[in-house]
Amino acid sequence: MTAAMTMLPALCCSSSVDRKMSSLLPAVLFEPLSCGKRGFDDVNEHYFSRKSLTCWDKFYKRHQNKFFKDRHYLEKDWGKYFSDGDDGAISANGKVLLEIGCGAGNTIFPLIAAYPKLFVHACDFSTEALTLVKEHPNFNGDQINLFICDVANDELCEKILPSSVDIVTLIFMLSAVSPKKMPFVLQNLKKVLKPNGHILVRDYAVGDSAQVKLENKNQMISNNFYFRGDGTCSFYFSEDFLSALFVKAGFGTVDMNIYCRQVENRFRNMAFQRRWIRAIFTKIDS
Ligand SMILES: C[S@@+](CC[C@H](N)C(=O)[O-])C[C@H]1O[C@@H](n2cnc3c(N)ncnc32)[C@H](O)[C@@H]1O
Repeated sequence: MTAAMTMLPALCCSSSVDRKMSSLLPAVLFEPLSCGKRGFDDVNEHYFSRKSLTCWDKFYKRHQNKFFKDRHYLEKDWGKYFSDGDDGAISANGKVLLEIGCGAGNTIFPLIAAYPKLFVHACDFSTEALTLVKEHPNFNGDQINLFICDVANDELCEKILPSSVDIVTLIFMLSAVSPKKMPFVLQNLKKVLKPNGHILVRDYAVGDSAQVKLENKNQMISNNFYFRGDGTCSFYFSEDFLSALFVKAGFGTVDMNIYCRQVENRFRNMAFQRRWIRAIFTKIDS
C-alpha cells in the first residue's frame, strides 16, 4: 500500500464531520481576529485559513506520527542536492538543510540517515508536530535545530542566520498556506538561503483526485484552494502558477514536472488519479 493510498481515507474524513464543519461556516466566516502579527492581512482570510494552526495541532494530536510515511524517495530523486561533495569530493562539513513544515519528521529522518553530515534546521508552527519530532528515536539535537515558526507570519531570519542555508525543502507544505501568503513565505525563505541555494518542492497538482472530491463537496475557498473535512487547507498547483510565484519572488526554475499515478483502493473497489508536482528553484542573487 502506498503513502498516497493511506492518505486518502484519513483526509476525507467522515461526511458527518464535513457536515458539521460546513454548518459552522456562515456564522464564523468573518469572525474578528483575536491576535496575529500580520493580522491586517488575515481579516479577509477564510475561516479555515485563519484556523490553520489549530487544525494542524488537532491533526497531529489525532494521528500522532502514523499518518505520513517516511519519504525515502527524496534521496532517489534529489540525492545530489543533499550529498556533501557535488563532485564526489570528501568535505568536512555537510550541507545545511531547512525543512519547512516538518510535521512528524517524515522528510528529515530518512535524510539524516542517508546523509549523516547533513545539518538540518526544521520548523513547524504546530507544537504537537514538534513534540513528535523530538520524541523520535533518531532525534539528535546536535544535528537537528528544531524550532517553532509560522513561516507565513514570522521572520525566519530571527531564528537562523541570513544566507546560511544550502537547501530548503517544501514537502507538501506550501499547499497548506493560503495563496495570498505564499509570496511572503518565499521572501522569508529567500533571506536565509545562500546565493545559488536551492528550494526543492513536492506538492499537490491541479486535477488530483483529492481536488475533484473537495470541489464536488463545495469545499473551495478560492481558485484551487480548499478546506478538508478536518479543517486543514490544501492548494493544488499548476506548473504556470508555481513557476510564476517563484520567478516573481526572484528565483530561477531549474526543473519542474507533474507526475501522475493511479492509486487503487481494493477495499472500496475504487481507483484514484493522483497528481503531484515536483520542482527545483534556485535563488538568483541580487
Ligand atoms: C502535509 S504536512 C507535511 C509534513 C512534512 N513536510 C513531511 O514531509 O511529512 C504540512 C505541514 O506544514 C505545517 N504548516 C502549515 N502551515 C505552516 C506555516 N504557516 N508555518 C509552519 N508550518 C506550517 C503543518 O503543521 C504540517 O506539519
